[in-house]
Amino acid sequence: MINDLWYKNAVIYCLSVGAYMDANGDGIGDFTGLMRRLDYLHGLGITAIWLMPFQVSPHRDDGYDVSDYYGVDPRYGTLGDFVEFTHAAKQRGIRVLIDLVINHTSDQHPWFKEACKDPNSKHRDWYVWSKKKPANANTGMVFPGVQKSTWTYDEQAKAWYFHRFYDFQPDLNTSHPEVQAEILKIMGFWIQLGVSGFRMDAVPFIISTKGPDVREPEEQYDMLRMFREFLQWRQGDCIALAEANVLPETDLEYFGDDGDRMHMMFNFQVNQNLFYALASADMRPLVKALKATKPRPATAQWGMFLRNHDELDLGRLTDEQRQAVFAAFGPDPEMQLYDRGIRRRLAPMFDGDQRRLELAYSLLFTLPATPVIRYGDEIGMGDNLKLPERNCARTPMQWSNEPQGGFTKSDKPHVPVISGGPYGYEHVNAAIQRRHPESLLNWTERIIRMRKEVPEVGWGDFTVIPTRDPSVLVMRYDWRNNWVLFVHNLDAKPHEVRFSVGLDGDNAEHGKLLVNLLAEDHSRAGEDGNHRLVIEAYGYRWYRVGGLDYLLRRTEVDEPLHPKTG
Ligand code: NOJ
Ligand code: CA
Repeated sequence: MINDLWYKNAVIYCLSVGAYMDANGDGIGDFTGLMRRLDYLHGLGITAIWLMPFQVSPHRDDGYDVSDYYGVDPRYGTLGDFVEFTHAAKQRGIRVLIDLVINHTSDQHPWFKEACKDPNSKHRDWYVWSKKKPANANTGMVFPGVQKSTWTYDEQAKAWYFHRFYDFQPDLNTSHPEVQAEILKIMGFWIQLGVSGFRMDAVPFIISTKGPDVREPEEQYDMLRMFREFLQWRQGDCIALAEANVLPETDLEYFGDDGDRMHMMFNFQVNQNLFYALASADMRPLVKALKATKPRPATAQWGMFLRNHDELDLGRLTDEQRQAVFAAFGPDPEMQLYDRGIRRRLAPMFDGDQRRLELAYSLLFTLPATPVIRYGDEIGMGDNLKLPERNCARTPMQWSNEPQGGFTKSDKPHVPVISGGPYGYEHVNAAIQRRHPESLLNWTERIIRMRKEVPEVGWGDFTVIPTRDPSVLVMRYDWRNNWVLFVHNLDAKPHEVRFSVGLDGDNAEHGKLLVNLLAEDHSRAGEDGNHRLVIEAYGYRWYRVGGLDYLLRRTEVDEPLHPKTG
């Protein structure tokens, strides 16, 4: 396979322009501020930015309620600033993905306003209406406990409109050909301004049938191919990264059997089981999730993440497993959300314990996927549980111990900077961590650098190596006549493990030497061909199999694509 599929081996950094850096001093981050931090991001080693919604919006759902798809919200700057930003990112080799939020608009979008005002208007059919209150109006809420229904009556329209999310987010009638054409137009617009793709919000809902008589919504998967084709005709390297928290049996519907639908999807299945593994030191359900999500077309890739801007959704675990994760990482009701998740940031979930943070990140960077990290997690930022719902984990980036963490010159940032206590900007900030070689920030920079030199993870095939110890995960990746092997101990105490690398024939010899990529303790197999190692509490190891001459042994093509004949 030719290495053009950049997303198979990228490191994606997710950020919100409003929370990154405020250059004009109005208390809200802006594109000018973000541009000034591009060298920081370049130094960290990330290769792509996923930019959260920045289009014109009343901001009742942090920009996931768009009122103009073709403009930059004035609080962040202008379209001109946006193009300067994509250009500046490109100069540093950083690609930009943006959120595409087209399952719904804001209720302040002119389309919706017109649709309410005039039943004969062109935009009436762009939304989903019912004359009577639908029988299922009080089911299917995405934000239980906060959102009361999925249908709301509009006085002006004299009809009920459908909203899968909050009532100020009317669903677009995404089956309507004109709506679909508009979605493509929106994509085309931003592609022209320099983006390399889209994180598509709420994909299962976009493709679902919608309407008052729809009892069992059905996914119209063909729409995904339409989006994909459009993207790639416009710009060959443009990708779609789908937010779709679905069961493994439907993964291939999203990727397409031939890889003709979504290029990437977030792996929610592994994410939830990973947190269970971290909570219980039992990685068996995680291994099950890894195996269940293994089948995918060669061009498709998973996006792996630990925390994102939403709650950690644990809805796919068993009740018992979910309770175990709550007990370990979010025991207080105020830490939990929507009856299914935890709204905290990563560092407080681990009590700020750097060993555990490194373990979690080491797993993130070595699971079969492209890692997606979230701004602030590289310095172990905390959360502010006084802020409502998911806002607690969306506070401004902490740059230094200057006032407001160096985020703004204003003394009234739009969202308060975390101050005081163990996660206050006074202690937790990028400037201090730059000066300490062992800080989380410098560790993250080193691990990203190493991850980029281990393309086997993004491109290769994985095998879980049996050890008979449920607390220790051993995985091997194979790609182009090279192998890497990772060991993770999820337990709070040291473990001794014994395993064979599992290579046979001519390669068996290579399997006898494991060269540690992060420290000096290499491993040589015993007489019986097995490696024995003692791995400390929350320990992790990154090994090259067979020695550091691996690049001299690498082949140029993928073996399975060129079966030997004769
Ligand atoms: C998923 C986004 O991640 C979330 O933040 C948002 O509230 C919903 N989609 C609605 O757009
Ligand atoms: Ca500003």
